[in-house]
Parts: sequence; C-alpha cells; structure tokens
Amino acid sequence: MLLRILKDYETLSQEVCKEIISLIQHQPAATLCLAAGDTPRLAYALVADSARSGGISFSQCTFIGLDEWVGIPPDNPGSCRYFLETNLFAPLGISSSQIHMFDALTHDLSGECLRIDAIISEKGGIDLMVVGVGMNGHIGFNEPGVPVDLRAHVVELDATTRSVGQKYFQNKTELDRGITLGLRHFLDSRRAVLIASGAKKAPIIRQVLEGPVSTIVPASIIRRHSNGIAMLDEECAAQLSNRHT
Ligand code: F6R
Repeated sequence: MLLRILKDYETLSQEVCKEIISLIQHQPAATLCLAAGDTPRLAYALVADSARSGGISFSQCTFIGLDEWVGIPPDNPGSCRYFLETNLFAPLGISSSQIHMFDALTHDLSGECLRIDAIISEKGGIDLMVVGVGMNGHIGFNEPGVPVDLRAHVVELDATTRSVGQKYFQNKTELDRGITLGLRHFLDSRRAVLIASGAKKAPIIRQVLEGPVSTIVPASIIRRHSNGIAMLDEECAAQLSNRHT
C-alpha cells in the first residue's frame, strides 16, 4: 500500500479526480465502484468538470454501487443513490444501463446481494474502488468485526454509523441496516483508493494505518491490498508517526 499525504482537501480531491479520469482515458470500459459521502464530493465535481472540458466520455464504463441504507428510497437526498446521481451520474450523463446499485427497498435483500455479486463477476471484477472511512473505521458498510471474506451482504449498522449517518438526512431517520459490498470485493479490486480528510478523522486514520491490520478496524485491510493507496490531507495525517509507507 502506498500513502500519499496531500496539502489540503482541494489537492486531495484533485488527486482522486486524476485517478478516475486517468482510468477512463486508458480503459474507457472500466468498472468503477465509488463511495458516496462528504469526502469524495469535491473530487466528483472535478471529475465532471474535467470530463466536460477535456471531452472525456464515460459512456462505456460501468458503475457498481458500494452500499445503501436499507429501507431508504433512491429519491431521498440522504441515500447513496441520490448522492451519486446528483454529484456524478447526472453531471457525467451516465445512462441507467451503466449503473448497478443495490435496491435497498426490496424484500429479497439476500437475492439483491447475489444479483450485485453476479454483475461484478460478469464484468470481470472491479477496476477501481474509491472508498471513504467512517468514524468507526468502516469502509462501505463493512462495520467493525466484519469477516474479511464476505462479498455483498446485509449488516446491522453500528451505533456510530447510525448516529454519524444522520448528517446526510434532513430529518432524524431510522438507520438500522445497510447493504454493502464486502471486504473481499475491496481486496479483489484491481486498484483501491482510500480517502480521508480533516482533523476529526485523524484518530481513526492513525488506527487504520498504524494499528494492527484487523477487521476490528475494517479500513486497515487496505494495507493488505496489492495495489492500494491511502490519500489523506495534512489535517487527517496529523497523528501519524510514520508518514512514509
Ligand atoms: C458511503 C460509504 C461510507 C462513507 C464513510 C465516510 O458510500 O460507503 O463508508 O464513505 O462513512 O463518509 P464521509 O465521507 O461522509 O465522512
């Protein structure tokens, strides 16, 4: 795993944007899995700008959803689907046939996990995953203690995720369960980019990068990825004792 510490959130976002644009330039039919959330928001705006100004077409690639809140409809502004639709898919002109996200309203959540796993297999795996880090060290909704070999699965959300997740919703919202790709998908991806920004994530990032590699802190598994990179801004890297990995 490589570690890159960037000056600030803007520089970090530019680097994430470069990862995505460069993949599409070299491999227009790539399969991408990109997190929702506050951390990648600016990177996606930069991707949309670069695609527009550089005439880069995203018409051949495929997007796989990383995760979703169970029971939250896609038109709820707090859903992952809504976030990606408004911040990435609509600005890039992505057609619905290119998007495979979890239906978090289905009564057959296990079938939904199998459906998404099958799509990933048919596509030959994921070329690029970009994941954020939760305040409890989760990636996607892989919560502390998750088995490392799981693919898509349904999960009871951790108390931290339930409370921190309220920030995405206008009104207080019951967040009990999530549906998510698993750590196996993450480890099998051909390129994994983990991003974190800001002082509030500094303590968990220290555990992710300098504590034991353990699914107690799921994001620490990035250190076992053969082509993984962690990108942080200076504020987020402030508690690291070793800045060179
Ligand atoms: C969202 C997701 C979550 C977030 C994480 C960090 O699709 O998978 O794991 O990446 O909770 O969220 P932010 O970026 O809002 O701090």
